[in-house]
Amino acid sequence: MFCYLFFVFLLFNEAFAAKHAKPVVQWQTLSGDAPLVIARGGYSGLFPDSSQFAYQFALSTSLSDVVLFCDLQLTKDGAGFCHSGLQLDNSTTISQAFPKGQKTYPVNGEDVTGWFAIDYVSKVLFDKVSLIQGIFSRPSVFDNSQSMMRVEDVVAVQPPLFWLNVEYANFFKQHKLDIAEYTLGLSNQMPIDFISSPEINFLKGLSGKVNARNTRLIFKFLKADKTEPSTKKTYSSLLKDLPMIKSFSSGILVPKEYIWPVGKDLYLEPATTLVLDAHKLGLEVYAYGFANDAPASYNYSYDPSTEYLQFVDNSDFSVDGVLTDFPSTASQAVACLAHNKKNIPPPIKDKPLIISHNGASGVYAGCTDLAYQQAVNDGADIIDCSVQMTKDGVAFCLDSADVSQTTTAMTSFMSHSTVIPEIQKDNGIYSFDLTWAEIQTLKPSQTRLPSSGLSRNPAMQNAGKLMTLPEFLDFAKNSSVPGILISIENAAYLASKQGLDIVNTVMSNLTAASYDQQTLQQVYIQSDDTSVLEKFKSVSTYKRVLMIKESISDAPKPSVTEIKQFADAVNLPRSSLVAYSDFFLSGFTPVAKEMFAANISVFVSVLRNEFMALAFDYFSDPTVEVATYVLGLGLDGVVTEYPATASSYMRSPCFYSDADLPYTILAAQPGSLLQLAPPDALPPAQPPAPVLQPADVDDPPLPPVVKNSNNDPAHPSPPASSLPSSPPNHASLVTVTSSLSFFIVFFSFMYLHFSCH
Ligand SMILES: *[C@@H]1O[C@H](CO)[C@@H](O)[C@H](O)[C@H]1NC(C)=O
Ligand SMILES: *[C@@H]1O[C@H](CO)[C@@H](O)[C@H](O)[C@H]1NC(C)=O
Ligand SMILES: *[C@@H]1O[C@H](CO)[C@@H](O)[C@H](O)[C@H]1NC(C)=O
Ligand SMILES: *[C@@H]1O[C@H](CO)[C@@H](O)[C@H](O)[C@H]1NC(C)=O
Ligand SMILES: *[C@@H]1O[C@H](CO)[C@@H](O)[C@H](O)[C@H]1NC(C)=O
Repeated sequence: MFCYLFFVFLLFNEAFAAKHAKPVVQWQTLSGDAPLVIARGGYSGLFPDSSQFAYQFALSTSLSDVVLFCDLQLTKDGAGFCHSGLQLDNSTTISQAFPKGQKTYPVNGEDVTGWFAIDYVSKVLFDKVSLIQGIFSRPSVFDNSQSMMRVEDVVAVQPPLFWLNVEYANFFKQHKLDIAEYTLGLSNQMPIDFISSPEINFLKGLSGKVNARNTRLIFKFLKADKTEPSTKKTYSSLLKDLPMIKSFSSGILVPKEYIWPVGKDLYLEPATTLVLDAHKLGLEVYAYGFANDAPASYNYSYDPSTEYLQFVDNSDFSVDGVLTDFPSTASQAVACLAHNKKNIPPPIKDKPLIISHNGASGVYAGCTDLAYQQAVNDGADIIDCSVQMTKDGVAFCLDSADVSQTTTAMTSFMSHSTVIPEIQKDNGIYSFDLTWAEIQTLKPSQTRLPSSGLSRNPAMQNAGKLMTLPEFLDFAKNSSVPGILISIENAAYLASKQGLDIVNTVMSNLTAASYDQQTLQQVYIQSDDTSVLEKFKSVSTYKRVLMIKESISDAPKPSVTEIKQFADAVNLPRSSLVAYSDFFLSGFTPVAKEMFAANISVFVSVLRNEFMALAFDYFSDPTVEVATYVLGLGLDGVVTEYPATASSYMRSPCFYSDADLPYTILAAQPGSLLQLAPPDALPPAQPPAPVLQPADVDDPPLPPVVKNSNNDPAHPSPPASSLPSSPPNHASLVTVTSSLSFFIVFFSFMYLHFSCH
């Protein structure tokens, strides 16, 4: 069986005026050209390593000069094929095909156990063994459908540049296989742009024999404490003698930590001088170990693009290439995101809103002064306050009324823990059982992505202080943000059971900060309760956002008409906008279109950078998720815990769909990857989420605020005004009008299909 995979990108691109061409930039690489993106085993972050799908997909999703990287192995009869690593058991079906084939061999002085290609002739290996995904966090649905690829087969997919890595020349020699001879033979038959090896003698043997103009020899450094087989010196000691390395190679391939060391605490340390030193000698520097689903350091905030930029777009140097399992993300960092720090984002009216979720809560504990300041620094357009009430009637910002998850309350107020079914089914410690003075004794606490176990910025775990609503409003006023979003929950419960008037408190605090009489900053009032939104209709400058927390698969017209009476926008969970099947996207729901048809703006929440929060179609890359919502669905806002990621995308030339660019960031096309998986590899389809009914939209009127001896008497509500709310301002696809006056409609379609014969 031989499968071809075709990827067709169709871009319909209607631009009437100036193009946002990217200015030519000078890179701090040795050549001054852009750093290379090198795809390790193809797109091995998604497909089985070194498979046909992986190599094809790398070509179709990466920069046009992407380098395909093949880790060369030899079979018993001397056939060369690509496979990362010497043992075959983790990423092929060999242990099933040959259950008794496990062997132990000495490899560079260490005993290694597993299944080895040198024990099998090529016909047996290629016919009986197929490739599987070796890394558990990556999809397994493409397993078992492809066999290993001979080097010739990889070259036949026509890589723009081809890199052969020969890791175990010494081992093969011990088994009477001359991989140097084999490599030389290949280099006479086909273009090999790079040959790398961690063995000096192997490279020295090729030096002078391969055509130095066409093939660059690269010395690969292994872990610092490992011993190089020819010199018996450790790689760390060889690193001190770069002139010697230069005598037989034109560049080095090093673990990325050789350049940006990561401390035990997983924070980045200052850069070494390796790149500068090597460049001074005329040696190129390539870095390896990049993978979107292997978070390297807290400094990157789980955004893999940030890591590439650290290597290619810092003020001092750029590496000459990055070896990665996710070449599209590296391509996007090079082609779209680098050298943009000073770019001015498009004016807010022309772009989707970046709305923070508890401030930049991916970086600092949510709703703290630090999280809000970070959100502003990171380019959020709207900063958000989810208002909670204390026992003594103070409104303050915190993710939920239950303070036990987001503060240190568990240690000091355990005795207040109760179950309040109106709020949540689990135990909680509630803000309305504590005074503001008591809340202020608590430390905020950084949350984690549910069930991921990954911490966020642990050094700042409990840093920052919580803010009252008036403090938040002062902060927002003093900052440059174009808007604020105030979220109100549990209003009926607070009024009827706790004697707390959250609606009036928010209203009066906004008025006291004169937010009702200004148009500089847009105020969004968000609630899951239409009766709360109804109360804010009286201030015509406020926009109202209905939060629909439950997943829905459809919002028929009568429901949308009902929403329109109360809200200018809806805030929906991701699962109401895209349908999933086993961590793949299976389709867009009609909900966004249905809302747009009634001029209701749509926000999606909550976007998070951690790769476990991302469907496979986003390539473990949060930027692709943002692009899918704003470009693919045309949403009006993204609610995110990491505003920096959305902002760096929207500042980049690739955000402008009329830009004349050789590479751009595309929306994921739901269903396209699923289509590549054999149907029996997928779990049965889940029933769709419920359809939103008009009755689900309407909430009963708010109950009166009971008198409660703990609280101040409630203020009477201001009279409801009959002023109509301002018309929502909605643009369905990404519609951009700027001073350059251009108008674009941009559709991106990515069709994938494959045929087997
Ligand atoms: C194969 O997987 C096992 C278990 O996940 C791991 O311990 C081992 O190091 C892996 N071997 C290779 C060669 O990657
Ligand atoms: C990484 O983050 C830590 C903690 O915020 C900081 O001290 C350090 O300077 C950062 N490292 C780099 C290289 O920016
Ligand atoms: C207002 O902003 C300025 C500069 O952005 C800052 O120096 C000042 O401390 C801020 N004031 C308050 C009350 O936050
Ligand atoms: C906020 O609202 C509450 C309740 O109406 C009021 O007691 C408090 O003084 C207000 N604070 C400010 C700064 O307006
Ligand atoms: C939506 O707004 C546009 C322009 O603001 C208007 O032409 C259109 O009639 C509106 N549609 C609905 C359904 O309100």
